[in-house]
Amino acid sequence: MKYVSLPEIMTAKVISICNLKGGVGKTTIVMALAEYLAGDTMYGKRVLVIDLDPQSNLTSALMSEEVWEKEFNNKGLTLPFLFKNPEYFLEDAKKEKFIAKNNISNVRNRNSFSHLHLIPSSPRLFDIQDDLPPGYYSCNLKPVELIRAILKPLLNNYDYILIDCAPNINTVVRSAFLASNACIIPCVPNRMSIHGLDLLLEHIDKFNRDYVHNLKAVGTLISRYNRTIAQTEQLNSLLVNPFYPPVFETKILERAKIAEGLELGNYLTYRQKYDDSHESMMKLAQEFIHKVGR
Ligand SMILES: Nc1ncnc2c1ncn2[C@@H]1O[C@H](COP(=O)(O)OP(=O)(O)OP(=O)(O)O)[C@@H](O)[C@H]1O
Ligand SMILES: [Mg+2]
Repeated sequence: MKYVSLPEIMTAKVISICNLKGGVGKTTIVMALAEYLAGDTMYGKRVLVIDLDPQSNLTSALMSEEVWEKEFNNKGLTLPFLFKNPEYFLEDAKKEKFIAKNNISNVRNRNSFSHLHLIPSSPRLFDIQDDLPPGYYSCNLKPVELIRAILKPLLNNYDYILIDCAPNINTVVRSAFLASNACIIPCVPNRMSIHGLDLLLEHIDKFNRDYVHNLKAVGTLISRYNRTIAQTEQLNSLLVNPFYPPVFETKILERAKIAEGLELGNYLTYRQKYDDSHESMMKLAQEFIHKVGR
């Protein structure tokens, strides 16, 4: 008997980028991973990024203020509206309206993005915690289940879904964890970031027990590395301690150009935007694919 193999249906890997410490480079890394994974001249992956942080830094880095204001915020198509009115978004016909699909990122030249999409945020997400129902929405979902429910019908449309988390643990961040297969933890090799990492790992353990989930930390990603003796000592402590998730071989150096990259400006090439970190970012995307899977 002859077996005909069916084409494999690719379903997205959902990855949260998180650390309880602020300013460790989470948003910068989500932006760079998205741009390098999705670029037509790079890896050509189908990528959706979700800005789950009320600071909305990822949204400002990837989409023009005018488009955000007119096309999304004024129309109630940002994450806080989604958390307030899940019924509206879960209706089939409307479900993709809150996804920005055009002109995401300012990296251009020979490159374009056939499939780089963004679910934008707004500072109103700050208020949302207090308004969330303690139990269920009328659509029979709990707030913590919302992101997973929103993503379920979209999983076949993407290779990777990256979620930029706020530096804390609340229902919104837990909703990202529940929707995710794995997480990546950016960490600056200094004492306080490592404390943030310790605490996050404890919270992930507790989260997995409470929600019977299996969120795995695929790696610690060293970011804003300036190779000082103090940082190198902290890095070594991460490398030798088996308690920590494996450290990515690629390290992101502290660079002024990378910091400028969070400001959405004129169209730039990868090299103009990332300067001498261009090769590292390419390697990071490759290592990401290797660690997370295709
Ligand atoms: N590799 C880097 N080199 C230099 N500056 C960087 C680098 N990565 C991030 N920065 C800068 O550090 C600041 C914090 O970065 P970013 O916003 O990515 O961190 P975050 O972890 O998302 O912060 P938050 O917890 O506030 O969301 C920003 O001003 C950013 O431009
Ligand atoms: Mg951030």
